[in-house]
Amino acid sequence: MSAASELERLLGLATRLAREAGAIQRASYEAVRTIDSKSQPNDLVAALAEERPHDSVLAEEGGGTEKPGATYRWVIDPLDGTTNYAHGYPRFAVSIGVEREGAQACGVVYDPLLDELYHAVRSGGAFRNGRRISVSREADLRRALVSTGFAYDKAITEDDNTREFRALLKNAREVRRDGSAALDLCYVAGGRFDAYWEFKLKPWDVAAGTLIVTEAGGRVTDTVGGGEFRSGASVLASNGALHAAMLAGLAAAKT
Ligand code: IPD
Ligand code: CA
Repeated sequence: MSAASELERLLGLATRLAREAGAIQRASYEAVRTIDSKSQPNDLVAALAEERPHDSVLAEEGGGTEKPGATYRWVIDPLDGTTNYAHGYPRFAVSIGVEREGAQACGVVYDPLLDELYHAVRSGGAFRNGRRISVSREADLRRALVSTGFAYDKAITEDDNTREFRALLKNAREVRRDGSAALDLCYVAGGRFDAYWEFKLKPWDVAAGTLIVTEAGGRVTDTVGGGEFRSGASVLASNGALHAAMLAGLAAAKT
């Protein structure tokens, strides 16, 4: 099988698994969250292991296995937006990224409540429910809607993103903190947000969403100096037009 058709197959599998996991989340959310949010994610990883026993898997909530020499690695957040989910705030998603020989190959993010499925395949564009999406064209930070998030260690560190948050709050049109990094990235890809930044992320938060942004015509880098983005850690995603202004805003906040 060619690499391209193998990738199509993997995209199909990622889509099916994301929809199945999302359907369970939606059902339990609507039934006042009777299902334990931690048990269901493991089902996703178990289903994947059955279908793709030779692939590596890195997943939040555990359950993943590194397979030395594997061509493919799946990087999964079965429930991104855990705090939102636990509080009944309707913003969470399933995120599944697939790497081929260490490079991002395809990604799926599924919001079960809005029934919005985002996907991208490297060099194949980005889509929401099958329709092509692209980043916004906003080039003026003062008119931009940007988004961010705060890491779980915020209570115990000074490096907590509040200075950057303040700087962007003053300079952008508005700042949102919506609680799902995967959806924040997809909203940049689809033009709802003009940019998004966050520090101290994990690979599973961003594995799918960052590919979806770049395939939608956006730019994804480190938050400092626009250095190359490494999976996880800090991320700045934008429509491209605002990237320099965002980097400058984040840098100024440090001084
Ligand atoms: C979190 C969400 C949140 C972000 C945190 C992440 P989780 O993931 O993506 O938006 O601010 O940094 O850890 O814990 O809900 O899967
Ligand atoms: Ca997450």
